[in-house]
Amino acid sequence: MDKLVSLCKRKGFIFQSSAIYGGVNGCWDFGPLGVELKKNIKEHWWYTFVQQRDDMVGLDASIIMHPDVWKASGHVEAFHDMLVDCKDCRKRFREDHLEDTVKCPECGGELGEAKAFNSMLKTQLGVSEETAVSTYLRPETCQAIFVNFKEIYSSSRVKIPFGIAQVGKSFRNEVNPRNFIFRSREFEQMEIEYFIREEDEVELFEKWQGEIWEWFLQIGLMEDKMRWYEHPKESLAHYSKRTVDVEYEFPFGWGELQGLANRGVYDLTQHSEHSGKDLSFFDQEKNEKYIPTVLEPSAGADRTTLAVLCAAYDEQEVPSGKEGKTETRVVMHFKPSIAPIKAAVLPLVKKDGLAEIAQDLEKQLRKKFNTYYDQAGAIGRRYRRQDEIGTPFCICVDFDTKDDNCVTVRDRDTMEQVRMLMDEVCAYIEKRIARDSD
Ligand code: GAP
Repeated sequence: MDKLVSLCKRKGFIFQSSAIYGGVNGCWDFGPLGVELKKNIKEHWWYTFVQQRDDMVGLDASIIMHPDVWKASGHVEAFHDMLVDCKDCRKRFREDHLEDTVKCPECGGELGEAKAFNSMLKTQLGVSEETAVSTYLRPETCQAIFVNFKEIYSSSRVKIPFGIAQVGKSFRNEVNPRNFIFRSREFEQMEIEYFIREEDEVELFEKWQGEIWEWFLQIGLMEDKMRWYEHPKESLAHYSKRTVDVEYEFPFGWGELQGLANRGVYDLTQHSEHSGKDLSFFDQEKNEKYIPTVLEPSAGADRTTLAVLCAAYDEQEVPSGKEGKTETRVVMHFKPSIAPIKAAVLPLVKKDGLAEIAQDLEKQLRKKFNTYYDQAGAIGRRYRRQDEIGTPFCICVDFDTKDDNCVTVRDRDTMEQVRMLMDEVCAYIEKRIARDSD
């Protein structure tokens, strides 16, 4: 983990928020490469679960919602952690994270009684003291989907079963933000609420399990580092009839990547009751009005980004170029569709017009995908720099290019080089980064 965190900082993937002021615990900034990586993951998710399906529509709702939403959803009442304070050092811990609930894990002092602490972040809307309204930053994106359910189904001509997808920020006042971006206070979720008939819940739950699993493999996670966890009945969230999680084996242990819950009719019923608006659905095929059952695949974009970073990280011993010596090659094996930069264009040397040819080629390629131009230092060092940030293809312009219009394209993983016409490079790379083909 330490090596990965250091690479993320050094190469511009992820920085601590407000670092020059000492940082903010549980908040992270995605730098030039991190923003591209996370964007590619979110786009891949949207492409798979929205664009490629005819039973899914999207939503981008506001983060701040009416305060009554959180009463209806049960969050004001039930969205809390049980916390215990140490009577000596005053540190606070989540009761469910403690092995021993009597002794403080930090100083060995006596721990107090567990108290409920609501994890939502409060905010004020309005400028005057008297009229300002207190509300919360959303702790999950899905409530906006339930609140907009009627608007969406009456404007989109959808039929049961159908889903509404949303990607966006959520906020939780986590007591112990930890493990880099795994548990943060501000994070992004990729959520689907899938509305179905109750009689289909078992079959469709299983189908979603298969689809979620497959997507994680498509973005580069290894099956032997993934497993299912079934929540026992007694510890289900207040809204859930059944929940399973996809867990990933991070360097610090197994952790939840994505939940899949059967929320039953809980949320639409609650919002119907609290708002006084009828949120039932008229099923024309069945000629029947009912509140649909909801299946919810809910993934964290930041946790998925962390899993992708962990899965990609590799160190290899390779010949250094000096007789009998080796060196460590750090390489990020991102899938080409997920890699922040797809191709780097490198002139073998700056002189003899090679730099100009390489710059022209890079300008052409950047119309189609993210590229990088680098002419500084020995070619081997430049390849290593690209390996470290996971660029799948390096294109070298050499002395022969001037005569034959050909360049070499180096594959990051095999380090093999193929020679091809400059005119063919773009199509070759586009084919290799196509989402379905990796
Ligand atoms: N709407 C259901 C829901 O929010 P959840 O299990 O609390 O369920 C879903 O959250 C996903 O959101 C988790 O599987 C995880 O990937 C991500 N997530 C939750 N809390 C997080 C946190 N503090 N930091 C980063 N990601 C988080």
